[in-house]
Amino acid sequence: MIRIRNLALVFPTFHGGETAALRGVSLDIGAGERVALVGESGSGKSLLALACLGLVPEHGRVVEGRVELDGVDAATASRAALRAWRGGVAGLAFQEAAGALSPVYTIGFQLAEAVRAHRPLSRRQARERARELLAEVAIDEPEAALRAYPHELSGGQAQRAMLAMALAAGPRLLIADEPTSELDPITRAEVLGLVGRLCRERGLSLLLVSHDLAVVRDLAQRVLVLYAGEVVEEAATAALFSEPLHPFTRELLAAAGEGGAAGAPVGCPPAKAAAAPAELGCRFHQRCGLALASCRRRAPELANLADGRRLRCPVVRGGPEVGDGPG
Ligand SMILES: Nc1ncnc2c1ncn2[C@@H]1O[C@H](COP(=O)(O)OP(=O)(O)OP(=O)(O)O)[C@@H](O)[C@H]1O
Ligand code: SF4
Ligand SMILES: [Mg+2]
Repeated sequence: MIRIRNLALVFPTFHGGETAALRGVSLDIGAGERVALVGESGSGKSLLALACLGLVPEHGRVVEGRVELDGVDAATASRAALRAWRGGVAGLAFQEAAGALSPVYTIGFQLAEAVRAHRPLSRRQARERARELLAEVAIDEPEAALRAYPHELSGGQAQRAMLAMALAAGPRLLIADEPTSELDPITRAEVLGLVGRLCRERGLSLLLVSHDLAVVRDLAQRVLVLYAGEVVEEAATAALFSEPLHPFTRELLAAAGEGGAAGAPVGCPPAKAAAAPAELGCRFHQRCGLALASCRRRAPELANLADGRRLRCPVVRGGPEVGDGPG
């Protein structure tokens, strides 16, 4: 469904230059596949999620690469083709679920309208479908929720109503991009758990952006780790969590208490590391406990490993080069 190749995106800087927000990023999401993006704040996860909708934020410029959505090049696609693509994608707005619903209509009315917008049903049938959707998202007392206004629901119930709205349009792909500051973690994990179950049952694809690695581990089949706009590691979820390879992945997992802590370096502030000029080598080298002299000289390639993994670290992959020393 989604095939992104070598995407590079820049933003203008105050000084008249440009700064790279994504570099050489490739991502595939097949039908029914659940993929997660993880990485620190500012690593480019939301930009990549936007690219999956064929969108580039204002002031952003794609300098390289290609985004194919259902086989259509997003850069040259007609408006109609992009609209059709986006019609099959539901974005889940976690930050303020109640705000994603209109305050002046009942949940039942809004859901029924959303159902009728894409299926020719009578009002009564649409109302019945709305009730079914609320039951599917495990909302308490669906009948009462149909008659409720958004502000009458608790945070968790509003999240579920928002999810029902997303499902009403019959999407093929869900994009759940969680902001850092959030609902309470239990509600969030519950709602995301429900998203995972619905994706599995309905064969929907999922692009999950989350800082909650336990949720990622539960929901995703494959994980991409981003650091400073680059994919540094990509692996099947089980492999990534049982044996994280890239030093940054190890640091990220160790920080979340997810194992893989062996040799995890102590980090310096991400802003400083992210600002390291990539031309001079690995973008992670200032924070990396395994860095060698060559890491500062040469930007590492993202290499394909035998088990379908991808890894941007020649040191972990193959050991130091001849004549290399600590960096
Ligand atoms: N509209 C914009 N104008 C300028 N820079 C931007 C814009 N949008 C994003 N950026 C920059 O691109 C980088 C990646 O941003 P992005 O929002 O994708 O990060 P993220 O990984 O989603 O972070 P978070 O986890 O905090 O949501 C950041 O450094 C950000 O400052
Ligand atoms: S390439 Fe070098 S600096 Fe970069 S992650 Fe690997 S060991 Fe660390
Ligand atoms: Mg984001």
